[in-house]
Amino acid sequence: MMKEQLQKIKEQASAEIAALSDTKALDDLRVKFLGKKGELTAILKQMGQLSAEERPVMGQLANDVRTALENAINEKASALRAAITEQRLKTEAVDVTMPGKKRSIGVRHPLNIVLDDLKAIFRGMGYTVVDGPEVEEVKYVFDMLNTDEGHPAREKSDTFYISDTTLLRTQTSSVQIRTMLKEKPPIAIISPGRVYRPDAVDGTHSPIFHQCEGLVIDKNITFGDLKGTLENFAKSLYGNDVKLRFRPHHFPYTEPSAEVDLSCFKCGGKGCSLCKGEGWIEMLGSGVVHPQVLKNCGIDPDEYSGFAFGIGLERIAMMRYNIDDMRLLYENDARFLSQFRC
Ligand code: DAH
Repeated sequence: MMKEQLQKIKEQASAEIAALSDTKALDDLRVKFLGKKGELTAILKQMGQLSAEERPVMGQLANDVRTALENAINEKASALRAAITEQRLKTEAVDVTMPGKKRSIGVRHPLNIVLDDLKAIFRGMGYTVVDGPEVEEVKYVFDMLNTDEGHPAREKSDTFYISDTTLLRTQTSSVQIRTMLKEKPPIAIISPGRVYRPDAVDGTHSPIFHQCEGLVIDKNITFGDLKGTLENFAKSLYGNDVKLRFRPHHFPYTEPSAEVDLSCFKCGGKGCSLCKGEGWIEMLGSGVVHPQVLKNCGIDPDEYSGFAFGIGLERIAMMRYNIDDMRLLYENDARFLSQFRC
């Protein structure tokens, strides 16, 4: 009776092992037949009911069945593992002859190339590079720069006011005031950064653009120092052949003031499409710091004088790289930017 049961278990288990095809099912089967509450164990528990002669015979038989099942399960386990490995080798195979993935390295933005050159040139002349806030106080952008209440630059249509006393700075000139309030002369700084004006976007306008401010304050600084400095700057940037033209202008914070043109570096001054036949290209505003501005910052104009300038970075980049539409600088089209790999 028990012999038949054992035999039946062996056959049933063998059939099930042969039929199953995953390791989870095999584990379940192991528990079902050989586990503590398994079918084989249940039979062994009945051994007590057997006679003293039958017991060793059945014991032996039960052990044989257990060993046979264990072996069959182990064999099946290795077969399943081998099949899994085989499958993975097939599906995860790496074809080492396939071309690799190309990773392209980014390049500096043309505005940053220009800015880095500018910083290097002015650092070479002993200037320090300083930073200033873009959300700025009206008194630093206008009042202390000697720009009175009625000045058109302050108008709502030309500015992004945040409140009556704060705005998005329209020029980096505010950093002049911040610097003079903080530091004693001699001062020689440049301060590049973003500025904001409510201009509609087109090929030459953007509501956000970049300037680089410059300020020098010391004893006996003259317009001649400004000219020499800007000439050195322009030649470093565009080569020794470039010429400068100072045109009288008005800025409230400088006296005298000048706008500075450079000879067109495409045609050398003859007139071409880049300079629109002029031979000259406007580059920056500048002048001798107005005595009132020095006074506003607690610097004695009888003891000190200085010069200041403000350069448009977009213009320099566009001229240098012959870029005819300012929007290209902001669209971050990789086809455009990748041309500046150097
Ligand atoms: N702030 C002027 C502008 O935005 C540029 C400028 C002109 C800056 C004369 C100066 C300066 O420091 O002295 O157009």
